Amino acid sequence: MITRIIGLGIVVLLALMYDASLSGLYFIVYMCALILMEMNQKGKFDQEMSDYRRRKNTQIKAVENERILNQKILKTLIKTMSSPMLYIDRNGIICFTNNSFKDNFGLSDIQGKYYKDVLGQGLLQIVQECYLFEKKYNETRKLGERYYQVDSNPLIKNQLFYGTILLFVDVSKVKEIEKFQKQFLSDVSHELKTPMSAIIGSVEILNRRSGDMDEITKEFMEILLKESERMQNLIDDILVLSKLERPKQELNHVFVDVNKLIENTIQLFQELANEKGIEIQFITMLEDGLVLDYKSLKTIITNLISNAIKYSDGGIIRISVLYKEGTMILIVKDHGKGIAAKNIPLIFDRFFQEDRSRGIDMGTGLGLSIVKKVIENNNGSIEVVSELNKGSEFTVHIPVS
Ligand SMILES: Nc1ncnc2c1ncn2[C@@H]1O[C@H](COP(=O)(O)OP(=O)(O)OP(=O)(O)O)[C@@H](O)[C@H]1O
Ligand SMILES: [Mg+2]
Repeated sequence: MITRIIGLGIVVLLALMYDASLSGLYFIVYMCALILMEMNQKGKFDQEMSDYRRRKNTQIKAVENERILNQKILKTLIKTMSSPMLYIDRNGIICFTNNSFKDNFGLSDIQGKYYKDVLGQGLLQIVQECYLFEKKYNETRKLGERYYQVDSNPLIKNQLFYGTILLFVDVSKVKEIEKFQKQFLSDVSHELKTPMSAIIGSVEILNRRSGDMDEITKEFMEILLKESERMQNLIDDILVLSKLERPKQELNHVFVDVNKLIENTIQLFQELANEKGIEIQFITMLEDGLVLDYKSLKTIITNLISNAIKYSDGGIIRISVLYKEGTMILIVKDHGKGIAAKNIPLIFDRFFQEDRSRGIDMGTGLGLSIVKKVIENNNGSIEVVSELNKGSEFTVHIPVS
């Protein structure tokens, strides 16, 4: 534009130099040309602007349409999904529930209402736990006759709490199957207990007459006795496990002389340890007893010492016990065969055994799963550090009443 004005100015100057008497006319022509150029320029600009606006409007509409479509998809998905869902805002107002929520809990027209005014006792408790503490929550809860896996996700942005989304997944069928399995195992084990005792009793009586038997019969009788005892141990372990699985195992907290309990347990294993050339050391920092569940402690100590001896050939086993900040800490360290790193996460699983080819003294693989369950029932924890061919160290923490 500027170059055009300058160009036109030069033409007018040249014309003036040629004939100055027509300067007025030249000026008028120059001004008219300038106005025409300006008008032309403005027209072009307006056209470009309106094209730009049209393009932008089309883009905005496309984005808006996509947003509406996505919102519709999401809403339909949430509305029609089979798991109940609830969204509650930071003021405790129920902003959203889906069809499944209404069907499962028989609650309709609760949108826009304060949660305490409309939710029944069970639901209210869950919502309160999730909403008040603004934390992620994942737990199985019983509501009425059904079990739900409740998942709660707080909506937090820039450290501000906006509300909570709760999702309820119905897991009643899985629970029912689990319950049936446990009941079945416990019933079968119970039924097997009596015939097993009869078999062992009979074999023991026959064994007493070993003087009349030839060598092969004696050998078979020994195998028979060992295997029946192993089977009885297995049955006992399964019964203990199924008892532990029952909700809220009753604990009986009493004053326990922990030192004495450990010493007595060591005594039970002393002969076996001597046979294997193992030295058992016991270090205690406890001057007095502790208030704990006696049965639980006995199960833990017996299993850990039994394992330490079973999986060692010689060396020292050190058992330490101390009390720290409301917790009893028990450490059982051996210098035995250790556990391969890949198997460490598996040793607390039922029936897991690293080496199944050890013969008839190998046990059932239930010991540590029972120990773990007992510790969990006592709100405690167990950790293991182990290195192959160097040894293992089991550390137990149990809160003391
Ligand atoms: N102190 C240990 N050293 C090495 N391996 C161990 C030790 N304790 C446990 N394990 C490994 O973990 C597995 C599971 O132990 P767990 O006590 O559950 O079963 P188990 O000793 O085989 O049988 P039982 O049911 O008679 O106790 C064992 O088979 C063994 O492979
Ligand atoms: Mg064991």
